[in-house]
Amino acid sequence: MIKKYILSLVLSSAIALCGTMNSGWAADKVKIGFLVKQPEEPWFQTEWRFADRAAKDHGFEVLKIAAPDGERTLAALDSLAANGAQGFVICTPDPRLGPSIVAKAKALNLKVVTVDDRFVGSDGKFMEDVPYLGMDAHAIGQQQGSLLIAEAKKRGWNLAETGAIVNTFEELDTAHQRTSGSIESLIAAGFPKDNIFSAPNRTTDIPGSFDASNIILTQHPDKKNWLVIGMNDNAVLGGIRATEGAGFKAPNVIGIGINGTDVVAELEKKEVTGLYGSLLLSPNVHGYKTALMVYDWVTKGIEPPKFTPISDATLITRENFKQKLTEMGLM
Ligand code: GLA
Repeated sequence: MIKKYILSLVLSSAIALCGTMNSGWAADKVKIGFLVKQPEEPWFQTEWRFADRAAKDHGFEVLKIAAPDGERTLAALDSLAANGAQGFVICTPDPRLGPSIVAKAKALNLKVVTVDDRFVGSDGKFMEDVPYLGMDAHAIGQQQGSLLIAEAKKRGWNLAETGAIVNTFEELDTAHQRTSGSIESLIAAGFPKDNIFSAPNRTTDIPGSFDASNIILTQHPDKKNWLVIGMNDNAVLGGIRATEGAGFKAPNVIGIGINGTDVVAELEKKEVTGLYGSLLLSPNVHGYKTALMVYDWVTKGIEPPKFTPISDATLITRENFKQKLTEMGLM
């Protein structure tokens, strides 16, 4: 009887111990947040996917949060802290939120790494003390412009009859750098300055660039061909849709996006469209590396570099997009 009692006591304490250990393990798993401004964009979904992969490889957890505006961003930080997260990666909905995000993160004891769009301080300058991973936006823009003009020349277009729609979003430095780099390349290659038309986008999505591009097309009915420029795939896709609406056929339109992730459905379309291709960047690296940076920071005290440049960009077109995306594990 006593033996039985002791046995059950031993057993139940062993079970209890296992229970504590198990829940202890779960509770001990480091949690980090990953906040993105536009969760509907394949670009950001891909970053999330690869952040999850880093978490799986290294045994931590990523809390993926949509942060489309300032209010939701700041509220998300409170809930991250309440859920035991120790840091986060963010592509902010507005770089000017930088000072309030940093202040709140400090108060909540959360480490911050920024990705894609850099925080801007109250003095209008980049907050260079906040770790940032991203690319040289100006150089990517220049590449977009050079590729566009090369394709126009290949098609033997008369540049005097060709217009360039530039979908701009000046309040975002990333966008400004890319579109101004693109314009620079066009001009350097001999594209007539007067045929470059700026189309300020109200929102950074397809409807935003569609509306703005439409206005340009209506204002310049004399142009026979169009180049479509924009800061990313969606900014270019909206412009392409507008040229279609205005009656232009694919041979008379050239658009080259930036991201590569958001043009897959377009390049898969049976009928060729004005979207010639896109500059495929590395959302896999952006997502994986930044998540790991935060993890290493909170667990090992390794502070990330203030700036991690990522510079790979590959032109994908209908001919090679499947192969390139598959090679990078994106398809
Ligand atoms: C910005 C854009 C995204 C993507 C990233 C890449 O955040 O809004 O679509 O191009 O840059 O860094």
